[in-house]
Amino acid sequence: MNPFWSPVVGQLAPYVPGEQPKVEDLIKLNTNENPYPPSPRVAQAIAQVLGSDGQALRLYPDPACTTVREAAARVYGLSADQVFVGNGSDEVLAFVFQGLLNHSQPLVFPDITYSFYPSYCRLYGIRYELLPLTDAYEIDLPSVPAHASAVIFPNPNAPTGKAVRREWIERFLKERPNTVVVVDEAYVDFGADSCVPLVPTYPNLLVTQSLSKSRALAGMRVGLAFGQPSLIEALVRIKDSFNSYPIDRLASAAAVAALEDTDWLARNSQQIIEDRDWLTGALQYYGFQVLPSLANFVFARHRNFDAAKLAAGLRERKILVRHFDKPGISDWLRITVGTRAQCEALADAVEALTKT
Ligand SMILES: Cc1ncc(COP(=O)(O)O)c(C=O)c1O
Repeated sequence: MNPFWSPVVGQLAPYVPGEQPKVEDLIKLNTNENPYPPSPRVAQAIAQVLGSDGQALRLYPDPACTTVREAAARVYGLSADQVFVGNGSDEVLAFVFQGLLNHSQPLVFPDITYSFYPSYCRLYGIRYELLPLTDAYEIDLPSVPAHASAVIFPNPNAPTGKAVRREWIERFLKERPNTVVVVDEAYVDFGADSCVPLVPTYPNLLVTQSLSKSRALAGMRVGLAFGQPSLIEALVRIKDSFNSYPIDRLASAAAVAALEDTDWLARNSQQIIEDRDWLTGALQYYGFQVLPSLANFVFARHRNFDAAKLAAGLRERKILVRHFDKPGISDWLRITVGTRAQCEALADAVEALTKT
C-alpha cells in the first residue's frame, strides 16, 4: 500500500462493472443496457442545447437540476421538492448510503443483490447485515431483523430479476416506521410495481430510479431519487458538500426529453417484455432453469453445463453475458434481454454449446 494513501483506500473493495469491450461487433448482453436508441426527442434536445457553436457550454449548469426535477415530478405526480437528481443512480445511491443509511444500528440488504452495496459500506464505514434470500430466491421483508436501522433492496432484485409486491413493501413501511426503507427501482419499468406512489404517505421511504435502463440513457448518467422533502434535503446537503454540478447541460436536456416521452417508454418496455418471454422460453428449451424475471435481464442456470464455461464459450462466439464467481450464484448467468435478433443469436450459440 502506498504510504501516501489515506487509510480507508487500502480497505476498499471496489465494485467491478461489466466489461465494456473496445471492439464493435460483440453482442453485449452483460450490463443490462437497453438494446435500442433512446427516444428521438433526446438527440433533438441535445442538439438544441449545443446549437451551432456550443455557446451554452460556457456556463455552468443549474446546480439544482430544476428542469429535470420538474419533469420527473410531472411524470410521477409528485412535487419537485420530492425529487433528487444525480449522476447516474450509482451516484444517487452513494449519497443515500452516506446521508441516510449510516447509523449505529446496522443496515440490512439481501445476501444476493447489487454488488455495489457492500462497496459503499466499505467506503463509508457502514455496518451491515445480510438478509438471506428464500429458497425461491425471493426477498422476505418480514425476516428483516427488528434491530435494523435501514434496509435497501433493488426491486426487481438484481441479478435475480424477482420483485417484491408493493403491498408487502407498504406493510413493512407501516410496521417499521422507524426503519429507513430504500427501494432501488433501476429495473422497475419492465413489469414490477413502483413504490413512487407511496412516497407522499411514508416519511421513511426513499425510491431511486435510473434513466440508464428503461430510457436507454446509460451513456448520459442520470439517476433520480423520490422521497419526502426532508429525506431529499439530506441528499442535497451531501451533494453540495461534494460536487454542486453533477448533471451537465446535455444530460439535463436529454433527461427531460426522455422523461417526457412516456409513449416511447411504454412501447420500448413492452418490446423488451415480449423479448424477455421469448428468451426465457428459448433458454428453457435448451435445458436452463430460468427465474421468472420482471427486469430487462434473466438469471439462468444450465442443468448440465458449468456457467463459467458457458460464458467463455459465448464470448468466443462474440456474445457477452455476465457470470458472477460468487458464493450462491456461481452456477448462474445473468443475460440482458437484447433485440429479438440478439436473443436469437444467443439461443443459436447456446444450442451449439450444449449439443451433446
Ligand atoms: C440494481 C441497480 N441499481 C443501480 C444501478 C446503477 O445504474 P445507473 O448508475 O446507470 O443509473 C444498477 C446498474 O446496473 C443496478 O443494477
